[in-house]
Amino acid sequence: MYTSKISGLGHYVPENIVTNNDLSKMMDTNDEWIQERTGIKERRHIKKGDGNSTSVMGVKAAKIALERAELTTDDIDLIVFATLSPDMYFPGGGVQVQEMMGMRTIPALDIRNQCSGFVYAISVADQFIKTGMYKNVLVIGSENHSGGLDMTTRGRGVSVIFGDGAGAAVVTRSEEEGRGILSTHLHSEGAHAKELSLEGPNTSHWVPEIIAENPTENIPYYPYMNGQFVFKNAVVRFSEVINEGLQANNLSAVDINMLIPHQANLRISQFVQRQFKLSDDQVFNNIQKYGNTTAASIPIALSEAWEQGKIKEGDVVVLAAFGSGFTWGSAIIKW
Ligand code: UT7
Repeated sequence: MYTSKISGLGHYVPENIVTNNDLSKMMDTNDEWIQERTGIKERRHIKKGDGNSTSVMGVKAAKIALERAELTTDDIDLIVFATLSPDMYFPGGGVQVQEMMGMRTIPALDIRNQCSGFVYAISVADQFIKTGMYKNVLVIGSENHSGGLDMTTRGRGVSVIFGDGAGAAVVTRSEEEGRGILSTHLHSEGAHAKELSLEGPNTSHWVPEIIAENPTENIPYYPYMNGQFVFKNAVVRFSEVINEGLQANNLSAVDINMLIPHQANLRISQFVQRQFKLSDDQVFNNIQKYGNTTAASIPIALSEAWEQGKIKEGDVVVLAAFGSGFTWGSAIIKW
């Protein structure tokens, strides 16, 4: 019986720091509002000409994860790439990573589950390993949000929250029972697909049509978010799916050594922390520095927590995410 474990972690964020004050020069917003509602102080944005893109950042994070796993590209059997902001409409970023890293003609699978993308991707990797099909899976979450945000007052409810970056994990076969990825739990509720979405261009509203309409108000190619509705659903689903994971493994909140929530909003993380009565050192947050990086947020946070020595052998680590779709999920890991 195979199990899977995370054998290496890495992350990369662009150098360009964009503070709340920087944003207030582009739109009607301010540091106080952003910090009070979201906890975010600054985020990273790709700068034109810095060479970064979703796949390039993914490669940078992946190289670090591989090195820490003490593996080479030849050891990887599958790439699972999660993003909502691929470099191209198609193909997805997985094949770009495969090419840029000079990998064999291994399969590359793209995951489109937005903020839950990394948890979905880890679950996919875990299943391929547990069935014995693959030994090492490279999982990447990467986002280039800044290239697609409405950086005017019209878009401030969305654009102040999101940032760019990438995180990666190598998931490796193990035969140690009761260790590694113990279980993953995934959900979706398409009834709310439009509450956090980017509708166009899409196959029923294609580019020439949008150009012909010349829209000025309801611009369909900027992301839309019904913030309060998303917030209310997020706090409920985060708690449900963490409980589901704990119960499946006969664990309770006191057993959690480290909760790494998707960095959606510091207020959401704090709400979840209170619900599970967790102390500050049981929950890792870095949204203050990076904003919400969607599929990249959990692997960036996991990688930073590990670098800072906050995750140790034998720890129970819980990953939990909620986002567009709606989709949500958790992973329970015995490190
Ligand atoms: O990661 C995927 C999941 N995403 C989330 O979990 C995000 C969940 N939602 C949220 O985090 C919050 O809803 C937001 C941070 C997005 C917004 O906070 P809110 O407390 O729900 O604010 P709101 O949208 O109700 O807006 C309150 C006011 C409005 O003004 P009026 O109508 O009261 O005059 C907005 O126009 O704040 C205004 N506002 C802003 N003001 C300054 C909205 N955005 C901004 C801004 N700066 N950036």
